[in-house]
Amino acid sequence: MTIKDVIVSTPGGQYPIHIGPGHLEKLAQSVPADASALVVITNPTVDHLYGQRVRQSLAQTGKPISTLQLPDGELYKDWKTLNLIFDHLLGLRLDRRTVIVALGGGVIGDMAGFAAAVYMRGIRFIQVPTTLLAQVDSSVGGKTAVNHPLGKNMIGAFYQPIAVVIDTTVLESLPAREISAGLAEVVKYGLIMDETFFDWCCEHAQQLRAGDPALLGQAISRSCEFKAKVVSLDERETGLRATLNLGHTFAHAIEAGLGYGQWLHGEAVGCGLVLAAALSQRTLGMPLAQVQRVRSVVQDIGCPIHAPRLLGMDQWLSLMRSDKKAQAGEIKFVLMPTIGQAVICSADQADVQAVLSEHAAP
Ligand code: NAD
Ligand code: GLY
Repeated sequence: MTIKDVIVSTPGGQYPIHIGPGHLEKLAQSVPADASALVVITNPTVDHLYGQRVRQSLAQTGKPISTLQLPDGELYKDWKTLNLIFDHLLGLRLDRRTVIVALGGGVIGDMAGFAAAVYMRGIRFIQVPTTLLAQVDSSVGGKTAVNHPLGKNMIGAFYQPIAVVIDTTVLESLPAREISAGLAEVVKYGLIMDETFFDWCCEHAQQLRAGDPALLGQAISRSCEFKAKVVSLDERETGLRATLNLGHTFAHAIEAGLGYGQWLHGEAVGCGLVLAAALSQRTLGMPLAQVQRVRSVVQDIGCPIHAPRLLGMDQWLSLMRSDKKAQAGEIKFVLMPTIGQAVICSADQADVQAVLSEHAAP
């Protein structure tokens, strides 16, 4: 597999995803000539690591640059923190030609993107994802949001960036747990769309988990291709795009039920893939050997394979009913008849219950 740039096409226009080492230094090339000001939105952790390099790179544009640090963590992905962005933009009297540069993981990208979508009814923004999860998934496709105590990502908008700039070297500073979490979303693409890619993930799981830069670069490039293809066909999630939520009905329930930030989003997705495979076996007859392969690869990339015990069945069901895919209170799952294919469907409550109790943490 080779590492190459990817184009995302949506009804509103096209944008590039630049992928490779050293792209932070080329960031100025993605800034439109008519930008009036640049606002780097980040958090203290990422600012400390990469803020200076990003500001130096952006300085080549000659535009005024300001930086806003938001508190770090999923716990702060909320309305109150979002408002800090508007305070900053309005405080500096920044106009509609301001360009936001979202420098960080999925939390920063989702919040900065949502702020860009609604500030003065929409300003341009560039995604500069710095976690593996953000590089393979959240920075691409224009889903922006904040959490609400009653549900994850419930308040948001579809709003595309003008460019995604992925510098693969920033993964060198990423904690191992975050690499594992990002790999869950990588494996997800293979399960949904491409058995050969799933096989590749299984074969290289240990090296990917260890942070092998060449393999991670290939995983990022291929993942962005998958995501761009889906988003190009179904930007607003009228059908196909919902399959990208494989494992997420369970994952969102885990995150909301345990309290945001207890499990990383990607860890919850990894566990969700295992649960979705088991439910696929019961509901659609997915071969048992394939279910076992899903469990093994999730374990090999370092994500949990057991569902947290502290959620009771009523709580699981109630949390899953608030999933955005639910229709008239009926829970919908993304399930696999076989590896490489995904469908949206309902499942028997008894099967869901059995899967959860079979996979409860010891
Ligand atoms: P995150 O943004 O919280 O980042 C994880 C941690 O890594 C943070 O502490 C961050 O400061 C730190 N960090 C970031 N880059 C680093 C680096 N290079 N080196 C060292 N530390 C670094 O978490 P995440 O996993 O990136 O994103 C999860 C969020 O993404 C969730 O809120 C989820 O809902 C969202 N998401 C959105 C989409 C979408 O399509 N918009 C898709 C998937 C997930
Ligand atoms: N992460 C799922 C999506 O972007 O649709």
